[in-house]
Amino acid sequence: MKKVAVIGIGHVGSTVAYTLITRQLCDTLVLFDKNEALVAAEKNDLTDGQVGRKGQVKVIASDLSQLADCDLVIFSAGDISILQHSNDRFDELKYTRTTVEEWAPKLKAADFKGVLLNITNPCDVITQYFQELTGFPKHRVIGTGTTLDTARMQVAVGQQFNVDPNTVHGYVLGEHGNSQFVAWSSVRLTDQALTEVLTPAQLQAFADGAKQSAWDTIGGKGYTSYGIANQANICAEAILKDTRQILPVSNYSEAANCYVGHPAVVTATGVREDYHVALNDQEQHNWESSAAKVKEMYASLKE
Ligand code: 2OP
Repeated sequence: MKKVAVIGIGHVGSTVAYTLITRQLCDTLVLFDKNEALVAAEKNDLTDGQVGRKGQVKVIASDLSQLADCDLVIFSAGDISILQHSNDRFDELKYTRTTVEEWAPKLKAADFKGVLLNITNPCDVITQYFQELTGFPKHRVIGTGTTLDTARMQVAVGQQFNVDPNTVHGYVLGEHGNSQFVAWSSVRLTDQALTEVLTPAQLQAFADGAKQSAWDTIGGKGYTSYGIANQANICAEAILKDTRQILPVSNYSEAANCYVGHPAVVTATGVREDYHVALNDQEQHNWESSAAKVKEMYASLKE
């Protein structure tokens, strides 16, 4: 029996919740939001939405006592409307830090022992702030990191070669933000390194396109939801089913001394060993600058 809580059920949190139900990843789902009427409405709609299908996920509204035995808490309390007027996820921090300051003590008081998966932006900084304020072991606090950016890169490359994006292997690393970069030397179609078939200018165009994808979506619909809900659910599945999938989540890097997106084994108890991706000199430089950007953003929390 698996129990998951979703904190913050706006466009992202509600899509995450619905996807958890349709993928049958949990038996009980607990919803929280500062808008109680919204929680009650989503509880009703998610319950009604299950009639006529196999299985029944019990949906519970706003009950802090339910947090203690949750296997997973997904944190998606943010304000994406800020990104309709900005193209830097860092601009969300002024608001989103207050949501961590509200929820970290609640999770501690509830004696939550599961895995905390953060989606809220700026993802790496918010994830690290959660770890600091809860004092939970680092391996139990992770963020969706560059999973979505990696997916966007897979889509861009897949479209270029007219193949399923799932057959594109490799990673976007670093901040889930503007300093992210594609580690092209890791990206392969079967055993073919993309650096051998595409020019640096073509690779750069894919990287820029994948990075731009979030802003194009926000420009058109005001937010992004399905892409991130899919990645959060892939992480949730790895946690809830203990699949040990390697995913580029935001997790603590000893080398970088901060939370930053890079591959790690995702298990029922959080991340286990992180993976060092072999980087060329330029990529190593990009990795260091991206980590420096995360650390600079994090330091701004203390100013
Ligand atoms: C995304 O990349 C805005 O971080 C959100 O879709």
